[in-house]
Amino acid sequence: MSELITIKLPNDMHVHFREGNLLDFAVNATAEHFHHAVAMPNLKDPVTNYKKALEYFDQIDSVSRYSHFKPLVTMYLTGDIKEIDISEGALDPRLIGIKLYPAGVTTNSSNGVGNIKDCYKIFEWMEKYDLPLLVHGEVNNPETDIFDREKLFIDELISITQNFPKLRVIFEHISTKDAVDFVKKSSDLVAATITPQHIILNRNDLLSGGLKPHHYCLPVVKREIHRKAIAEAAFSGNKSFFLGTDSAPHYKNQKQSSCGCAGIFSASTALVIYLEAFDKAGALDKFEDFSVNNSTNFYNLVKTDKKITFKKEQFEVQPSYAVGDQEIIPFMANQKISWSVAKEL
Ligand code: NCD
Ligand code: ZN
Repeated sequence: MSELITIKLPNDMHVHFREGNLLDFAVNATAEHFHHAVAMPNLKDPVTNYKKALEYFDQIDSVSRYSHFKPLVTMYLTGDIKEIDISEGALDPRLIGIKLYPAGVTTNSSNGVGNIKDCYKIFEWMEKYDLPLLVHGEVNNPETDIFDREKLFIDELISITQNFPKLRVIFEHISTKDAVDFVKKSSDLVAATITPQHIILNRNDLLSGGLKPHHYCLPVVKREIHRKAIAEAAFSGNKSFFLGTDSAPHYKNQKQSSCGCAGIFSASTALVIYLEAFDKAGALDKFEDFSVNNSTNFYNLVKTDKKITFKKEQFEVQPSYAVGDQEIIPFMANQKISWSVAKEL
């Protein structure tokens, strides 16, 4: 009998469901194994107000084939957000927060924020109505070395958290020890999401022995010292760190290209990839905190009695997924992972 572990159905607190032909595929890859998932608003036509957020919610909900799945949506921060988007949105359990993209920092972020200080009025409303701020924490100065962009953004976060001490702030997909240290030092209202790739990869895994386009995402994976700090934060069970895959599908021809897109598709296999890492670190007892309890408590999410069971049995990640006449290559394609999903209850 192989070893089993059963936990409450997890939450993915950062995922890209896209739109058009990719929507059904991306939503169901997540919906199969997750209770909640926070859908990012960086569509080609970004989700910039409450009305658009509800429309996007309906699109996601209508393609989901799983009744246990509860999507959550976000608004994309621009100077055009109105107080009413925030006062009404904060009361709506389908809307979880507002996402700040520094302009130009990542995929579909050209409508993002130029000068963050210009948004302080909006942060004041968010603090007043208690609507969380989700942050892509990298400076967008193109001259700044790509490996330093997250560390240098921390000054911006220090200003935000000092000026708005009651604002809930989530530092998304952290990739540096500096980010881990910042979150640990901050109040209970500051948290971070952690992806599977930032737990298991360092920059050699991206660049050494051949360029690996399917290990390329933003923030880019960093030196081993940073990977270790992130892994330890996840394995510690500390309530300020929780699961957010940042699963971000791009078609194979856009990844394997002379100018490849940033983003790693991990939705269907992220859970067992995380689980294998927790197991190797002797931290299986912290897996439920990281993947369910910490985010449920931070965001006051509704709870579920549904559970998912994993078994310690080898699983091989499939080489690719067909979506229409295109292909998506998953994270760790063709590789073997020591855990698999046994059953959902
Ligand atoms: C994301 C995407 O493709 O939308 N890409 C990524 O590398 N993570 C955007 C993001 O979260 O930065
Ligand atoms: Zn993302």
